[in-house]
Amino acid sequence: MEDGKKMACVTGGNGYIASTLIKQLLVKGYAVNATVRDPDNSVQISHLKEMQGLGDLKIFRADLTEEGSFDEAVSGCEYVFLVAAPVNLNSQNPEEELIKPAIEGALNVMKSCVKAKSVKRIVLTSSAAAVSTKHLEGTGHVLDEESWSDVEYLRAEKPPTWGYAVSRVLVEKEACKFAQENNISLATVTPTLVVGPSLIPKENMSLGMSLALLTGNSDFFNFLGIMQTVSGSISIVHVEDVCRAHIFVAESAPSGRYICCSINTNLFDLANFLAERYPEYQVDTNFSSFREKNKSSLSSQKLVKAGFQYKYKRIEQIYDDVIEYAKKTGILASMKLPSK
Ligand SMILES: NC(=O)c1ccc[n+]([C@@H]2O[C@H](COP(=O)([O-])OP(=O)(O)OC[C@H]3O[C@@H](n4cnc5c(N)ncnc54)[C@H](OP(=O)(O)O)[C@@H]3O)[C@@H](O)[C@H]2O)c1
Repeated sequence: MEDGKKMACVTGGNGYIASTLIKQLLVKGYAVNATVRDPDNSVQISHLKEMQGLGDLKIFRADLTEEGSFDEAVSGCEYVFLVAAPVNLNSQNPEEELIKPAIEGALNVMKSCVKAKSVKRIVLTSSAAAVSTKHLEGTGHVLDEESWSDVEYLRAEKPPTWGYAVSRVLVEKEACKFAQENNISLATVTPTLVVGPSLIPKENMSLGMSLALLTGNSDFFNFLGIMQTVSGSISIVHVEDVCRAHIFVAESAPSGRYICCSINTNLFDLANFLAERYPEYQVDTNFSSFREKNKSSLSSQKLVKAGFQYKYKRIEQIYDDVIEYAKKTGILASMKLPSK
């Protein structure tokens, strides 16, 4: 850039993770090109308009399903953060709604990066769903970056949310192949359930799930239960750490896959922790069937060994922060459903 600022593109600027990432990049002095599907929706992009006060932030229209759509937004950028993805866990047609557009979309963004010639590193946001959704005998498995969710099992057995896990695995693998074939540097961040304040004006799934034991919202609680059952643990990380990890792997880590996880817990321990620390909420602690050792946990040692330091290492820090945000915004009350 003319004024010497580093430029980064963040796709899916209306998203939960992308919006915090954009803020952190602006605070670090980056010029940021954010993409959204509908820049004319003034409510949806209100957080981005506000963030323009923090630094050099431009908003571009781009859709994952359109080849060439990202050309303008990635042009001149050193780093491209591929955060946008279809994330509808309720999808009734995952092959068409989650898997196909996610793969095509990632490759479309990467093709734009090849054309741009300025891109030094692409950082892809994947998910722990691409690591731990597989059949495991016994308990206590510690999973690292060598572990992949089992696409064959998922497509055959179709456990709840199977399409999301398949889409995350296949996006990672196709993106890796494309990066190798086109000599692009790619790093993948695979976060566990992301917890923490949200900058976007709409409700999101991860906030709903992380607060489900406090709100009693049965829809979100159902997804938390599915997570425990299909992945073998409830593993969490603060949203600020996820975004700091994205910037860290862009700037400072070798290419490759990085699990991003601070705490491995389970429904029983999480419910008991929340009930004890926040007695003002009626937290149901009746989850003794999850009391035994977790089927699996996720190791973030590779990221830590590369030099990354988590800011939110303890579950108290993570939940104190999100609950303060929830109280301030009234979001806990708005998520409460009459079902409990
Ligand atoms: N949140 C978590 O707990 C968590 C955990 C692990 C991994 N992840 C991963 O993190 C990434 C972001 O998730 P998030 O939680 O931030 O979700 P989110 O808030 O729903 O954001 C997803 C973004 O993707 C955009 N998008 C979807 N389809 C698109 C398309 N066809 N073209 C362009 N943009 C499209 C959405 O745009 P619109 O606003 O226009 O709909 C939205 O901005 C995903 O890859 C997800 O798998 C999230």
